[in-house]
Amino acid sequence: MTDQATKHAKLTIDGVSDPIELPIYSGSVGPDVIDVGKLTSQGYFTYDPGFVSTASCDSEITYIDGDNGVLLHRGYPIEQLAEKSDYLELCYLLLNGELPNSAESADFVDTIKHHTMVNEQLRSFFKGFSPNAHPMAILCGVVGALSAFYHDSTDIDNAEHRKITAHRLIAKMPTLAAMSYKHAQGQPFIYPRNDLGYAENFLHMMFATPCEDYQVSPTIAKAMDRIFLLHADHEQNASTSTVRLAGSTGANPFASIAAGIAALWGPSHGGANEAVLNMLDEIGSVDNIPEYIKKAKDKNDPFRIMGFGHRVYKNYDPRAKVMQQTCHEVLEELGVEDNPVLAMARELERIALEDEYFVEKRLYPNVDFYSGIILKAIGIPVEMFTVIFATGRTPGWIAHWNEMISGPYKIGRPRQLYKGYTKRDYPN
Ligand code: SDX
Repeated sequence: MTDQATKHAKLTIDGVSDPIELPIYSGSVGPDVIDVGKLTSQGYFTYDPGFVSTASCDSEITYIDGDNGVLLHRGYPIEQLAEKSDYLELCYLLLNGELPNSAESADFVDTIKHHTMVNEQLRSFFKGFSPNAHPMAILCGVVGALSAFYHDSTDIDNAEHRKITAHRLIAKMPTLAAMSYKHAQGQPFIYPRNDLGYAENFLHMMFATPCEDYQVSPTIAKAMDRIFLLHADHEQNASTSTVRLAGSTGANPFASIAAGIAALWGPSHGGANEAVLNMLDEIGSVDNIPEYIKKAKDKNDPFRIMGFGHRVYKNYDPRAKVMQQTCHEVLEELGVEDNPVLAMARELERIALEDEYFVEKRLYPNVDFYSGIILKAIGIPVEMFTVIFATGRTPGWIAHWNEMISGPYKIGRPRQLYKGYTKRDYPN
């Protein structure tokens, strides 16, 4: 719960003599918050569609300063984590609040390695999906179904149960993601291997076959690990807020994470990386960019530049900068630095960042603008892009769920401004 009020706001309402005094709380950094809880007893609700100005909870996990393009995970800047850390170390940091020492790191990595397999019964679950099922549809279903296999650890009030569940989800998401891909390819599932690193194992499960192994390039594995790392958490975004809301009912963590996966799928959120590549395909050539920039600015045209804009970042998304650098490294390694899709993306970015519409609305590339180009260059099909995002975001969802469940919390239940019919009688 929030600490003592640091100051107060006084809300005066026309025709009401006494102002309503509302406590204001301060965090360790970032905007103060006004506690509006007492408004209900005064006959009022706050009104904030899309929660643009609403803090839904206290949290110590991730801090974003959108105006200055700052992203901190437990205080550590994303740029430093991308350069010096790796994905599993960040998972540990998000879950535990501190970086692991070497023994803690080795133990965590070993624990994750030994939870990567899924129950063999789950394999038949995939058979129920048509071959052309979108892998996100499969992932939503399969993650929700995981709770059917772990009745030994669904007591959300038991910290050990929450810990084993966190480990199981982080460990199994790459396996389930790769199985979703193999199902669509009509190829047999590839078991995880404990001699491989996290990202390496994922690429192995994606691209190896029983007929031949898949030699993972260290640069590609490092790029995959960094893509997971850059997606690991992002404060109270739509999917994380969905996980918190679902979890606030006491739903088991597998169901809550499945709800988050469903929310992430939308093209305004995690589905944007897939939408970026589809958009670039639609634009087709650098010559057509001005026409599409015009469409993006036309209020009557639903077209938007996918991978651009953000609810919080009104400056460059720091993850996009790291992703752009990784993009160059991967394309150089693959010898495709003159990739036409990348050339189009960079020209689109250049033109958009010079256009007064985008400047005035403070629209910059976000995490999704470059990630798809890297994934496509690695050979991952577009429909798997959001599955990769969901895999990367799992530690963030779990850390927020655990932070909520391990402290006092209430079921989330927003109210509304009702504009429908007032009471009327049913016709005789
Ligand atoms: C992610 O929340 C997170 O943290 C999300 C995320 C995470 O890690 O969890 O960062 C991941 O979801 C990144 C965002 C991926 N989505 C896209 O790239 C889709 C394209 N972007 C837009 O749909 C939009 O920018 C949103 C949804 C991301 C943000 O929308 P907001 O905050 O509701 O802003 P808005 O729609 O009110 O836009 C403000 C103005 C509008 O014009 P006006 O009504 O003020 O005249 O900017 C315009 C919008 O029309 N605008 C765009 C635009 N994005 C916003 N115009 C053209 N192209 C765009 N991409």
